[in-house]
Amino acid sequence: MEPLNIKDMYLSDFKKIENIYDTEFPNTWKISILESELNNSSSKYIVAYMSEKIVGFAGVLFSVDTADITNIVVRKSYRHMGIGSKLLEELINLTKENNKACLTLEVNINNVYAQQLYNKYNFKNLGIRKKYYNGTDDAYIMTLYL
Ligand SMILES: CC(C)(COP(=O)(O)OP(=O)(O)OC[C@H]1O[C@@H](n2cnc3c(N)ncnc32)[C@H](O)[C@@H]1OP(=O)(O)O)[C@@H](O)C(=O)NCCC(=O)NCCS
Repeated sequence: MEPLNIKDMYLSDFKKIENIYDTEFPNTWKISILESELNNSSSKYIVAYMSEKIVGFAGVLFSVDTADITNIVVRKSYRHMGIGSKLLEELINLTKENNKACLTLEVNINNVYAQQLYNKYNFKNLGIRKKYYNGTDDAYIMTLYL
């Protein structure tokens, strides 16, 4: 596997994936929401590059003493190669560096791979948000205490 380089994500990175966003990064946030999140001073976004190619990105929103994962996505043809794990490790490190007590997220109860990723890093399933996704699918609330 080519070396993976994880950096802070800026609007200029995002511009590089705009034209492939819907096909290569499907079922994530609408592009307009992501764009505004990149300008939110309480959020931090990171991007994974392999050579010159963006292969994933992830974001976290900090509040007073906690952090929430807003997004973590790997380019379709690059999944199950460890990139999601590397992005998540970096989000965990950022949360520790910012002295937050825990890192929380919601995950669709049908999204088994994402749940496996979070289980691998000892996130605990703390409950369910009913009909969280599109008014139909339930979400698990998963938290890692630091
Ligand atoms: C969830 C997601 C980010 C994982 O990224 P990834 O790069 O594939 O993750 P990794 O390769 O680091 O795999 C992490 C773990 O997930 C599980 N997993 C991921 N893909 C898998 C697959 N195709 N088959 C079996 N297990 C898989 C494994 O347990 C794996 O750990 P292991 O390889 O050490 O056994 C990716 O599937 C994705 O982008 N999904 C769409 C967006 C999404 O659903 N994001 C989560 C929102 S809450």
